[in-house]
Formats: sequence, structure tokens, C-alpha cells
Amino acid sequence: MAKRQSRYVCQACGAQAPKWSGRCEACGEWNSMVEEALPQSTPGGLSGGRSGRALVFDRLDETRADGQVLPRLTSGIGEFDRVCGGGLIPGSAVLIGGDPGVGKSTVLLQAAAMLARGKAGAPVPCAYISGEESIDQIRLRATRLGLADAPVALAAATSVREILAGLESNLTEAAVVIVDSIQTMFLDSLESAPGTVAQVRGSAQELIRLAKQRGFTLLLVGHVTKEGLIAGPKVLEHMVDTVLAFEGERGHQFRILRAVKNRFGPTDEIGVFEMSDGGLIEVENPSALFLTERQGEVTGACVFAGIEGTRPILVEVQALVSASPLGTPRRAVVGWDQARLAMVLAVLEARCGLSFAGRDVYLNVVGGLRLNEPAADLAMAAAIVSAAGNQAVPSDCVLFGEIGLSGEVRQVGRRDLRLKEAAKLGFARAFAPAAKARKDGRSETPLEVETMGHVADLVARIGAPLGDTEARRSL
Ligand code: TYD
Ligand code: MG
Repeated sequence: MAKRQSRYVCQACGAQAPKWSGRCEACGEWNSMVEEALPQSTPGGLSGGRSGRALVFDRLDETRADGQVLPRLTSGIGEFDRVCGGGLIPGSAVLIGGDPGVGKSTVLLQAAAMLARGKAGAPVPCAYISGEESIDQIRLRATRLGLADAPVALAAATSVREILAGLESNLTEAAVVIVDSIQTMFLDSLESAPGTVAQVRGSAQELIRLAKQRGFTLLLVGHVTKEGLIAGPKVLEHMVDTVLAFEGERGHQFRILRAVKNRFGPTDEIGVFEMSDGGLIEVENPSALFLTERQGEVTGACVFAGIEGTRPILVEVQALVSASPLGTPRRAVVGWDQARLAMVLAVLEARCGLSFAGRDVYLNVVGGLRLNEPAADLAMAAAIVSAAGNQAVPSDCVLFGEIGLSGEVRQVGRRDLRLKEAAKLGFARAFAPAAKARKDGRSETPLEVETMGHVADLVARIGAPLGDTEARRSL
């Protein structure tokens, strides 16, 4: 008998090697190589095989044979539908990743119940398959969410073969199938344990194949490793049509559903939820929520007028600058990019003569939101300058603008939308880069804009008063 062959597969990136090693050569991850049995036969070429069915082409410029346009399935949970690009597409596969306990099972159970009840349009038959909880536990959760009467098909299973057989039999005509979670699923044809790259990839492939063939929407839950990656392979992200990330700090009640990849919609969209006793509640006006605990005029805090997807969101940013006992002062940031903070500090030092040597700088985005926009630069700089100089930024003011390396403040997109949202929430002025000249020569703004052309303008406006040389020197 031929010797049974095996290979080693990195659980982080999916790379394969013939020999075990302590560190994956492809991604550098330590201790991630796991042995897997090689398939017994290697696939041959096409020669000598049976002749298959010939490919049939469809035409782009013709409608479907039945003349229908694929409708999107909407759950009626506005925040969820928007992140999916306006609803779920039949036949598509969606992966929802997030930390344990962030609320993935909860949001999907709520979405399934709403779809099945037909809160927005015709009722959509849904099936919820859990590999982590028993049917009774799911019922208990549903009761707590007030959804116990929703006509959702429930199952507790981990064997993909069993699930596929169940879905393929005509008994369940599910249009939306939820699998919670892909890490608990296993194919009995593979020898490796559930949760390994081979199992996750194999199980997902089988489920997605059936979804495309039968035209149901597949929602897969994926756990996230401590590094923030969807556990196991990146390959899973390539296989699905949409990847949603469910984010939120444990201590905060806010949860943010973010589209990371979407073949059928925009990727910069977010949905904001609040975790309550009765499950996740959608937050229609996130700006008001992120500003609820603001305490008027305090030094080191200001409000950034940001855009998430198509929506303006105002959020408070805070900075603290204090004398450092450490040889290398600390630069800590929550909710923003560390490298971006280093850049803003360098610009303030080089272009405005401020010094942060020997001082710790802490930066925090309130409410657990994570900002990715370069437009946040000006607000971050303002919070830092304000904290360092002990001068408050006016409390009726919002800020936005990108800072360049020479200290210039650059224009950012969606200016009008940002200003309008700020005016709506009662702000009276904005610190912002100069507006582009409009073709019609009009410049209508709903609030007073103080133009910031350079970070030095900002320092002059909110830094320590000019006459106070002692304070300036200590900056
Ligand atoms: P869950 O959806 O089980 O998280 P995941 O599937 O992402 O692991 O959410 C569990 C958390 O949500 C848990 O910490 C308790 C909290 N929760 C509420 O606060 N209210 C609720 O109504 C429910 C169902 C859960
Ligand atoms: Mg769960």
C-alpha cells in the first residue's frame, strides 16, 4: 500500500508546505501549521474523461427567460438593509465577521424573524442553522427579543452533508439560510478538525455552491481572531459576495455593522445599532447618539463632522497631552490610525513650532466608532492643540479637513452634507478648508465657516494666546 501522504496548511493564510515548520513562510505566523491528509488521487487532465455538458451562454442585453428582475430581499431593519446595499440579493453569499459576543447571532436572528414576518414586503421563508446553540437556546433568545412567534425554520447541526441534504429536499423552501458559524461546520470527507482552514473552506464552498444553484441567500457567521481577521483563511473572503464586519467595544452599547466588501453595493456604508435588553435597536440618528455625553466647552475635545458611507456622522474626539515620565513618550490612540497621529504631531512640530517631546499624547474617538477618513486630521489636530495649550475649542463648532505634510489644510468631499448635518444638530460654526469656487458663484452655507488654510491658522485660533509666550514655549 502506498504511504499515506500529508501536507501542512497554515491556519492563518492557507499556505501549504510539505514539511512542518514553526513559522509559516508565507505570512510569518508562528505555530499555525497543521497537518492535513492529502487527497488520495490527484486530479488528471481532461483527456480520456467522460464528455460533459456543453456550456450555454446567456445574453447581457436580454432579460431573464421569465422576464423578472431579481428583487432585493428587505428585512425592514433599515440599518441592516442599507449596509447590504439595499437588501439581500437572492443567490448571494454574505459573511458576517465579528468578535465573540458582539451580537452576530442576535442581529441575524432579528433579521431572519423580520424577513419571515414580512415586515417590509412579502414574507421571505428563512432557515436558521446553528452549530453553536441548541434549538431551545435559540428559542430562548427569540423569546427575549420578542420574536418567538416568527415563522423561522430552526435547526441545530454541524454536518454540512446533513445540512445540504436538508436544504436540497423540497421540504424547506428557504430563500434565506443562516449558518452560525462556519467554524463549527465540518465535511465528513475531510479528516481535519472543524475550524481548520480545510474544513472552513470546504464547508463554505459546498454551502455557497448550493446557494448559487438553488438561488437562496446564504448568510455565514465567521469568528474573528484576536488579530481582527476572520478566523482561518482570508480565502473565505474571496469566496463570498459580501463581507460585513460587526464591530463594537464590549463596554459600549453601540454596535456598527460595516460593509467591507460588497459585489452588489457600496463598501463604505455603516449601520449603527444599540445593544439593549431587547436585542439590537437601530439608531437612525447616530450623530445625536455619539454626542449625547458631550460636556460643552472642555479643553482637548472637539467635534468632527465625518461621513460614513452616504451618511454624515458627527462624533466627538478627545485628546490628552501630559508630561511623560518615560524616556520615549507614549502615543496611544483609540478609534483612529496610529500612523496618522504620528503624522499630525510631526506636522504640528515642524510647521507650527509646537513640541511634544517628553509629553504623552492620548487620542480617543468617543462611542467606540473607528474613523478612517483623512478628513478627521483637522479635528484631531484641534483636540491635540487644545489639550496642549489648555484652550477650549468653541463648543458650537465642528471641524473637518485633511492635513498635508507641509501643514496645508486640504479640501475634503461632501462639504455641504457635513455642514448641513452640523447645522441640523445646532452647531453654529465650522473650522474647515476653503470651499471650492462654485460655478454659479454662490456660496451658501447653513452655518458660519472659519476658513483654515494651514494648521498654523488653527493654532493661532485655539492655541495658547499669542502674548502668553511662557505657555507657547511649553507647548
Ligand atoms: P450574540 O449575538 O450571542 O453574539 P455573537 O453571536 O456575536 O457571539 O450576543 C451576545 C451578547 O449580546 C451578550 O454579551 C449579551 C448581549 N445581548 C443583549 O445585551 N441583549 C439581548 O437581547 C441579547 C439577545 C444579547
Ligand atoms: Mg453567536
